[in-house]
Amino acid sequence: MKDEIIAGLDLGTTKTVCLIAKSTNGTLLFTSGGNGVKQEDIVGTPETSSGPKRAFEIIGKGIVPSTGLHKGVVVDLEHTAESIRLAVSKASQQAQTKIKELYVNVAGDHIKIENSQGIIALERPDKQIIQEDVKEVIEQAKSIQVPTTRQIIHTIPLEFIVDEQSGIKVPDGMSGNRLKVNIYIITGAIVPCQNIYKSVNRAEFKVRDLILQPMASAYAVLEPDEQELGCVLIDIGGTVTDVAVFYEDKLRDTFAIPLGGIDITNDISIGLRTPRSEAERIKLNYAIACRDLADDEIIEILKLGGRGEQTIEKKLLASIIEPRLEEIFSLIYRKISRDVLQYAPTLLPAGVILTGATAKMPGIKNLAEYVLKMPVRIGIPNPISHNSQLTTVGVPHINYVRDNTSLQDPAYATSIGLITYALSQFTSGKTHTMGNPAHRNLCAGHLLTRVAERMKKWLLE
Ligand SMILES: Nc1ncnc2c1ncn2[C@@H]1O[C@H](COP(=O)(O)OP(=O)(O)OP(=O)(O)O)[C@@H](O)[C@H]1O
Ligand SMILES: [Mg+2]
Repeated sequence: MKDEIIAGLDLGTTKTVCLIAKSTNGTLLFTSGGNGVKQEDIVGTPETSSGPKRAFEIIGKGIVPSTGLHKGVVVDLEHTAESIRLAVSKASQQAQTKIKELYVNVAGDHIKIENSQGIIALERPDKQIIQEDVKEVIEQAKSIQVPTTRQIIHTIPLEFIVDEQSGIKVPDGMSGNRLKVNIYIITGAIVPCQNIYKSVNRAEFKVRDLILQPMASAYAVLEPDEQELGCVLIDIGGTVTDVAVFYEDKLRDTFAIPLGGIDITNDISIGLRTPRSEAERIKLNYAIACRDLADDEIIEILKLGGRGEQTIEKKLLASIIEPRLEEIFSLIYRKISRDVLQYAPTLLPAGVILTGATAKMPGIKNLAEYVLKMPVRIGIPNPISHNSQLTTVGVPHINYVRDNTSLQDPAYATSIGLITYALSQFTSGKTHTMGNPAHRNLCAGHLLTRVAERMKKWLLE
């Protein structure tokens, strides 16, 4: 693989982040000191000892406030385009490179995941499975009726079944009478997806690929054993909490709760009768997620309408925050209990990985463990993450060349994940992303050609 420039765009409700990365072939890159990654941490692990080693450097970073999104979806094309222009231009200046195409996240409660099956008879005399058969059976599984109001974002083949033998990952070369496939299809409502393309186009860039937000975050913060064993990724952002359930190395479920950090700020503003900007300030400086963990320290806050200051105990602040976070975690717990754990109570032993900027709030891990009844860790983009989904031939590593540690922050899980995802597509030559006709109409000829090219690559896996 030659050096590639990859640009990721995290369209968040509160911030738009553009990261530009340079992927490098050959020797693993790492920075000594700064990000704490030592050579011993990398060399000699089972993951890195197999296959060529990949690395990438973040060479440009643009972070600007978002003004055109609500609940994870674009509600104002021009404002969103302006945020995109600014973020990409900052990142491009730092990287000293011109960007044309972006890997962009898609989020919100319009996302759905469904499973589907395909089956074909193997009719050639030798009964041996070739790539054309694999292509045909996947196409058949994908041909489930996707309404014109929705578009396919990802397709994830789960297993192939040759006659009675299930659990096959690569059926090529095997022989049998019938080939079946079980597949997950992730779709999004066409309007919010279109609005992402439109905003990016308005800013005079192109969408290279649309990636489900929790899938991107997972690429940055999950470890392979977590995905293999079973875990839940929770990305608590501004106004949406995105959830993804993984087990046996695959994304198995995804949903969104339309609540996030801004709701906490609003609760503080109303509860303490203080302006929103002041509520945000005290949240960032003094918030604690559990009342029991807060001390009696007194803090000064502004009153509404410029009527001077008041003092409150940190415990009071925590007692406003706790119920909102408890509500978010309870909604998630209810959904996971109903859809996953009631059938397989031991399915998610690796527990919960909390990410998104709200995950930085002190005490949130304790509260999440209490409500979700599972072990919880905070997911920080990891420069030596050995995410098995990344690639089948090697392990990319994040190398922060500039601004060494600042991206090792839950707020950047999605943007780092977009880069890692893109790199994995280059490295393995596979893609999960294929648009439906409505999507393709939107994206002009070049995308159509590329989708076809990628599909070919993916099928050659
Ligand atoms: N240290 C912190 N403690 C608590 N909350 C924080 C902290 N830092 C940021 N936040 C909150 O995190 C929220 C923003 O999260 P994030 O940056 O992940 O959202 P986003 O990606 O812009 O939005 P979304 O993913 O929902 O579209 C804001 O409400 C902000 O107040
Ligand atoms: Mg986000």
